[in-house]
Amino acid sequence: MIPKETVDKIFDAARIEEVVGDFVTLKKRGVNMIGLCPFHNEKTPSFNVNVARGIYKCFGCGKGGSAVNFVMEHEKLAYPEALRYLAKKYNIEIEEEELTLEKQAEQNERESLFIVSSFAQKHFTENLHNTDEGKAIGLSYFQERGFRNDIIEKFQLGYCLDTWRGFTDAAVAAGYKIDYLVKTGLTIQKENPESRIQNPEGQAENQQSTINNQQYFDRFKARVIFPIHNVTGRVIAFGGRTLKSDKKLAKYVNSPESEIYHKSNVLYGIYFAKKEIITQDNCYLVEGYTDVISLHQAGIENVVASSGTSLTVEQIRQIRRYTQNITILYDGDSAGIKASFRGIDLILQEGMNVKVLLFPDGDDPDSYSKRVSYEELKKFIAENSKDFISFKTSLLMAEVQNDPIKKANLIRDIVSSIAVIPEAINRSVYVKECSRIMELSEQVLLNELNKLRRKNLSNQQQKNESYVEDVYVPEELLEKQKGISSDDCAAQEKDVIRILLNFGKEKVIVTSEDEEKNSVDVEITVAELIHMELAGDQIEMENPAYQGILKEYANGALPDANHFINHPDPIICKSVVDLLSSAYSLSMNWEKHGILVKTENHMLKRSVLSALYSLKVKRIAKMILENQKQLKETSSDDDMMTLLHQQKQLSEAKKHFSAELGRIVIS
Ligand code: CTP
Ligand code: MN
Repeated sequence: MIPKETVDKIFDAARIEEVVGDFVTLKKRGVNMIGLCPFHNEKTPSFNVNVARGIYKCFGCGKGGSAVNFVMEHEKLAYPEALRYLAKKYNIEIEEEELTLEKQAEQNERESLFIVSSFAQKHFTENLHNTDEGKAIGLSYFQERGFRNDIIEKFQLGYCLDTWRGFTDAAVAAGYKIDYLVKTGLTIQKENPESRIQNPEGQAENQQSTINNQQYFDRFKARVIFPIHNVTGRVIAFGGRTLKSDKKLAKYVNSPESEIYHKSNVLYGIYFAKKEIITQDNCYLVEGYTDVISLHQAGIENVVASSGTSLTVEQIRQIRRYTQNITILYDGDSAGIKASFRGIDLILQEGMNVKVLLFPDGDDPDSYSKRVSYEELKKFIAENSKDFISFKTSLLMAEVQNDPIKKANLIRDIVSSIAVIPEAINRSVYVKECSRIMELSEQVLLNELNKLRRKNLSNQQQKNESYVEDVYVPEELLEKQKGISSDDCAAQEKDVIRILLNFGKEKVIVTSEDEEKNSVDVEITVAELIHMELAGDQIEMENPAYQGILKEYANGALPDANHFINHPDPIICKSVVDLLSSAYSLSMNWEKHGILVKTENHMLKRSVLSALYSLKVKRIAKMILENQKQLKETSSDDDMMTLLHQQKQLSEAKKHFSAELGRIVIS
């Protein structure tokens, strides 16, 4: 358990813009900040952060909450883990009972996998720097490749000793459960203890079964280690490179998929690159671990690799949180070219801008950056990066010069890339460019383009995928789409609670009677007025979250927004965030002034009363409907009389409140 005071300390320290800002690029927009929502795929920002209130809200997918909610949602953590995450971020010490290793492991599987991975990274790094074998083999390898010590340390490179289970034994001795070692893939479990043991390279290993009945061995045996970090800098997986030249050995062995490592979502180096990607507004995409590291060493830090897989849409979307621009830096060999072609279309499809630079055949960013100075490297990249049309044409034009069929194919190839671009404006820019380079009329290209787009579109419809061009849905419309015009009182209840949250503390003047029946003006809070009016007619909220909120204002209590934002009941918390981020909360002007001048006070009272009376009218209308239904169904005369009597009373009440409402609205 985390003590209450510590929880409060964490809530106080956690700045929503900083917590969110670790994952989303935020730009100032009025009093709020906006960015691309990390919870759904979008191209126009609808993710709002309200710094003053400490909440976020996406008007696209509806997700919203406090800094803690954000961490829970984004990092898939339970509440206490999210608090621990924030405590760590803000250097707040949590004085809780020392957890036994046993308990620690039980706490949460994901967290345990993170902890095991962190242990492994430290173990491998320790091997590299402080064991004879590590220094002689691992460290000297990195140094021979020209990696500086500061870079080796920055990327937390390591070495796994050439023993069958040195790492696994060390981890188990330190109290880590074998289960988690296997789940992260650090340790490989022998499938059948009776059968011959396979080592990671797939070769039979007879000697194994004779040693201590071993069932486990180290995946990364005798390899140098490249830890893979997630966007927040936690180690989630490893790549291990063999130093042997044995062709039968895989050059790299990587961690398998696990609960904390989904290969296709991960970019190697993103943690070290994200700041610079934002600053440079461009991201270099390379093929391997060593390319990322060498470019860093050369002073270029906005670089990531899709190592281990070919580039995926998820990886591109990760980059899109920081920039719209990607430059692909690949080997000039045929594999590199093929990979870059695939990458281009994927990137265009996501609506981003892509440039390509191929290094001379035989060179990759790693080798090239080591041969030249920083200035030369920068100059080379600047001068040789080509937009994708120039890239494809310059690459293929030579081959097709005098072959009309090949030339037609090339044109089709390029147009097919243009066809996947979602925005019409960008497509037309590229058509112009293509027409210029290929010396063809725009019309010819446009015809081909439209043909392709129609084909893509119908394919997509067949696959039942939605093909949405950028659509911006105004917040008002979203609000309208929900709620309003249904039979229930949801919209009216919402209005009342919204006013309560925004203005519960404000004072309004109501007319009342003193003991001698003289009317006197008394000042009460909006919260008191709402309570009085609802209690007077015995109205409770149908929405349980709203009823819960209402209750917290009972007996003159005036909880503030923070009280609800950090409320232990997640439904209340969610509702409050929704209400506070509502596009048309009537707050803004009044809040800015701090104090309400007379006319504003009058308007506030009018708003409160009109919300209350709308709710009452709606509620009564609903009761009338129910009453009519019962009238139709009943066969007893007594019941009929009672129902008719009620009907009359309800109609009168409705008339009364409608008249009041009318009076309020025109006053
Ligand atoms: N890779 C992999 N498994 C392999 C080979 C490659 O996962 N068997 C991935 C690694 O992430 C590697 C990247 O593909 O970093 C690029 O491969 P390659 O160019 O062969 O490796 P480099 O990182 O350049 O390594 P080196 O320069 O040491 O050969
Ligand atoms: Mn290489």
